[in-house]
Amino acid sequence: MDLTKAMKTLLICGSVLGIVLWLAAGKSSQAFGPGGNSLPVTAQPEDNGYVGADACKDCHEDQFKNYSHTSHAKLAGISSWKNKVTGCESCHGPGKAHAAEGDPAKIISFKNKPSKEISETCLTCHAGKEEHNNFRRGEHWRNDVGCTECHSPHQGDVGKNLASSNVFVSRANAEKPGFSTLKILKSSEPQLCLGCHSEVKPAFNAPFHHKVLEGVMKCSDCHNPHGGFELKQTRLATGGDATCIKCHADKQGPFIYEHAPVKTEGCVACHTPHGSSNPRLLRYSAVNQLCLTCHSVAHDVGAIEPAGPQHNQNAQYGNCTACHVKIHGSRTSPVFFR
Ligand code: HEC
Ligand code: HEC
Ligand code: HEC
Ligand code: HEC
Ligand code: HEC
Ligand code: HEC
Ligand code: HEC
Ligand code: HEC
Ligand code: HEC
Ligand code: HEC
Repeated sequence: MDLTKAMKTLLICGSVLGIVLWLAAGKSSQAFGPGGNSLPVTAQPEDNGYVGADACKDCHEDQFKNYSHTSHAKLAGISSWKNKVTGCESCHGPGKAHAAEGDPAKIISFKNKPSKEISETCLTCHAGKEEHNNFRRGEHWRNDVGCTECHSPHQGDVGKNLASSNVFVSRANAEKPGFSTLKILKSSEPQLCLGCHSEVKPAFNAPFHHKVLEGVMKCSDCHNPHGGFELKQTRLATGGDATCIKCHADKQGPFIYEHAPVKTEGCVACHTPHGSSNPRLLRYSAVNQLCLTCHSVAHDVGAIEPAGPQHNQNAQYGNCTACHVKIHGSRTSPVFFR
């Protein structure tokens, strides 16, 4: 526990440093430091074998056209990026020699590169941000799901793949399922995720579920596709359940009488996050079953488990939350009556 805390503190410091470096790099006249690969640290667009994106236009019209809609293309016009490598060459490396005669051997190609190497290219710029800092600690990285499994490097063909029926209603996927203009994603959520994680789909069709398929929320509200520290890449801060609290703020308190597991084990001690055949997404169909998984031992001074109720288990006590109403915590009642 303490170790986790210490690591967290270290990492927070790390992220802060990272952000500072990111900002500093943005201001200095140094080029963005593509470190791990063969790109030079300092370069002027006209120097060191660089020619700029316009030189690629004639021979690679499609890539150029698609790319010109992305936020990468806009960097060249931002003053803090002046004199730094932007455009095609920020990923593909210096292109002067290649552009002269189109020799494919004279440009960095990603065609047969392993996914981790492509991701490293992106991370030379993106690793400084908290959202992506822990990409190399995530399950996606470990399983060779790289940036370009989810993002298209140049932007897909805008306007193609329009689905004939579109039942999605919110901003989360007002986009067509098979295509996205948002964050240069290859397709919009949740289709993007379900394409590989079809095993979780049934839960979202269960009688009680978070409305992800309906477009009210998205997978990335709860998960960070870019990795992180939490189990299952959730956006939960340990014990705090930050992601759930974002939308269910009333469950956070502050309470004078806390129900211990809400803070110690978190929401998923009692709820299945995706969906369930039980009302309130509870892990058990009858609420007393849920309570008694923890409250089963006799009252015993010094017992490690929470005490079982003194009152008997007659039918009148079956529906525990009929009396213990404020089950997430209370300001007035140590047994959560109000
Ligand atoms: C004179 C035309 C021409 C210009 C200008 C040009 N290219 Fe190319 N490029 C080619 C040809 C020809 C190929 C090989 C096509 C193939 O293999 O299908 C190629 C291939 C590529 C490849 C793929 C390499 C591979 O085979 O995997 C990349 C990446 C690339 N070019 C990037 C660029 C960039 C970036 C620029 C601008 C700096 C640029 N090109 C400018 C003609 C050009
Ligand atoms: C953000 C990084 C990045 C930028 C910027 C970028 N590319 Fe690429 N490019 C890639 C990656 C990664 C691939 C490998 C294809 C894949 O994984 O889908 C690629 C593939 C290519 C290919 C090979 C054919 C293909 O589509 O697979 C060409 C040609 C190409 N890029 C040209 C360009 C040109 C021209 C520009 C500028 C207009 C450009 N790229 C800008 C990352 C980039
Ligand atoms: C030269 C540095 C650099 C490289 C290399 C780079 N990016 Fe970016 N990228 C940026 C900057 C700067 C932004 C704009 C600020 C931001 O959103 O973080 C950006 C924005 C983005 C966005 C947000 C797009 C949007 O519409 O908001 C995505 C997604 C992205 N990059 C993915 C990638 C991927 C994938 C790669 C590798 C194939 C890559 N980037 C390589 C610098 C870079
Ligand atoms: C498993 C799929 C997946 C992978 C792998 C992935 N991304 Fe993303 N990325 C997403 C999704 C989904 C969003 C949009 C989240 C949202 O809508 O808020 C996103 C958003 C972004 C953004 C814009 C939001 C922001 O935080 O500024 C950037 C930049 C970005 N990704 C870069 C990257 C880079 C760089 C990599 C590789 C190191 C990468 N992504 C790998 C799915 C992925
Ligand atoms: C290209 C396929 C692919 C895509 C697209 C993809 N994933 Fe994954 N994801 C994987 C693989 C492979 C793993 C590791 C093996 C596993 O646990 O299933 C993984 C692991 C995960 C895990 C951790 C599971 C665990 O047991 O620890 C979560 C959570 C996750 N992905 C969420 C998402 C979300 C959210 C998206 C969409 C933004 C997404 N994934 C898109 C392939 C993908
Ligand atoms: C309401 C928040 C929430 C949403 C929305 C959500 N997840 Fe999860 N997901 C979680 C939590 C929390 C866990 C961890 C469950 C546990 O520890 O018992 C999890 C676990 C997972 C796992 C690990 C395997 C498993 O079932 O335990 C995968 C894979 C996954 N989610 C993918 C997705 C995908 C894909 C989407 C979108 C279609 C999605 N999640 C939407 C909260 C969410
Ligand atoms: C993006 C916002 C959002 C996040 C994040 C979120 N929820 Fe929800 N949750 C909702 C909405 C909206 C509803 C109710 C509407 C519906 O049926 O989808 C709901 C419903 C519920 C319900 C059922 C309520 C009822 O009356 O049946 C439970 C339990 C629940 N959420 C728990 C969680 C847990 C646990 C997490 C974290 C793993 C979480 N939620 C994360 C938005 C969110
Ligand atoms: C000790 C078990 C337990 C834990 C831990 C727990 N809940 Fe609940 N929760 C319940 C029970 C039982 C109900 C049903 C109450 C009822 O039937 O009136 C419920 C109901 C809900 C509801 C729907 C009714 C309402 O009061 O709005 C939401 C939303 C909810 N919980 C969210 C959360 C969130 C978010 C967390 C984590 C911060 C969490 N729960 C942690 C047991 C728990
Ligand atoms: C994950 C385990 C867990 C579950 C499930 C759980 N509890 Fe608890 N509960 C605890 C712990 C731990 C305490 C604190 C016990 C202590 O401090 O001695 C506690 C405390 C209480 C208290 C305060 C009185 C006391 O003994 O301190 C009541 C009342 C209570 N729980 C009722 C319920 C009810 C009703 C349910 C079902 C809706 C439930 N609990 C589900 C673990 C759990
Ligand atoms: C008819 C109302 C009612 C129902 C239903 C009910 N309880 Fe209680 N519960 C009480 C009362 C009254 C107390 C004693 C409160 C006090 O000491 O001030 C109590 C106390 C408790 C305590 C604290 C330890 C103790 O016995 O003093 C726990 C734990 C508890 N109940 C769990 C449960 C569980 C689990 C269920 C469902 C199986 C349940 N209760 C159903 C009324 C109820």
